[in-house]
Amino acid sequence: MKILVTGCAGFIGFHLCKNLINKNIKIVGIDNINNYYSPIIKKSRLSILKKNKNFIFYKKDISNYKNIKKIFVNNKFDIIFNLAAQAGVRYSIENPREYIKSNILGFCNLIELARIYGVKKFFYASSSSVYGEKKTFPLKENQIIQPTNTYSLSKKNNEEIAEIYSNYYKIRFVGLRFFTIYGEWGRPDMLILKFISSIRKKKKFYLNNFGNHYRDFTYINDAIKNIKILLSMNLKKKHEIYNVCSGRPVNIKYILRKLIKVFGKPIIKKRKKLKADVLKTHGCNNKLKKKTKFYNYTNIDDGLKNLVDWAKKKQNIKSY
Ligand SMILES: NC(=O)c1ccc[n+]([C@@H]2O[C@H](COP(=O)([O-])OP(=O)(O)OC[C@H]3O[C@@H](n4cnc5c(N)ncnc54)[C@H](O)[C@@H]3O)[C@@H](O)[C@H]2O)c1
Repeated sequence: MKILVTGCAGFIGFHLCKNLINKNIKIVGIDNINNYYSPIIKKSRLSILKKNKNFIFYKKDISNYKNIKKIFVNNKFDIIFNLAAQAGVRYSIENPREYIKSNILGFCNLIELARIYGVKKFFYASSSSVYGEKKTFPLKENQIIQPTNTYSLSKKNNEEIAEIYSNYYKIRFVGLRFFTIYGEWGRPDMLILKFISSIRKKKKFYLNNFGNHYRDFTYINDAIKNIKILLSMNLKKKHEIYNVCSGRPVNIKYILRKLIKVFGKPIIKKRKKLKADVLKTHGCNNKLKKKTKFYNYTNIDDGLKNLVDWAKKKQNIKSY
């Protein structure tokens, strides 16, 4: 089986590739190694993947149709995972064009190539941010979504294009609405590793909304286990969307207290809520549980312990 994973040098893409590669699965990975956060981190992840001879890497941009097409000409893919995207809600306020280019044009290029080259299954990353600011929880897949920024709008757009393609062509689509995924090799622009980094680099940490946010923190291994199960299943529906979440929202201050105990306290500058942020995310994972029969979600204390142990060992990685 041959699988294309875009965004393979990114946090989720890296873990997915690492977990999927085996003697029966060949992975072709694409990433443009952009500098939204340190390319050193992306290259370190890649160096781990490249140790396996069933992993091949192409440094390409998914928004460049001609370049990506060449890869399809030379490879017959059974499955595509599109995890390449310009991530980050806040950055989308300042740089909306990046989101249109990578998340909308890049996505369209890939599904069009999937259609032309007869790919059977297309998994793609959506996001909890498509829900927008909601007052009632938990968030369910069938409720109205109301994106409030270019990032979440690009993800809504992906879901809609996938729906249209699924009505015309035989590709099976699976949209994964990820909720605050955290874990080893995580993103340095997200809360936990950003906080640890401010302590180590003795930099100010800006605590938005005075730490009164709640996030449905979801451990990377749980997300990957669910994806692996989905991958092995028969997909009857043309297009399905799943919340990928632990379903247990955690207050930001709780996480910071835990980290302070281990690493000490940075200079914390409290400030009001940023316009781009929602107060709370809390997803319902019943639909995914019903499908994959995966019930054993890692609790925040255990997941955080794994991440902290890893971060202690990675003390010398400059880019974190
Ligand atoms: N991590 C989370 O909590 C979370 C939550 C919701 C949604 N998501 C979505 O999941 C996916 C993976 O997220 P992640 O956390 O691993 O982010 P990430 O930034 O670590 O990974 C994305 C990767 O895609 C690459 N990339 C970006 N634009 C590209 C382009 N035009 N061509 C080729 N490569 C490109 C980047 O270099 C990066 O390595 C993204 O679509 C993201 O929006 C993540």
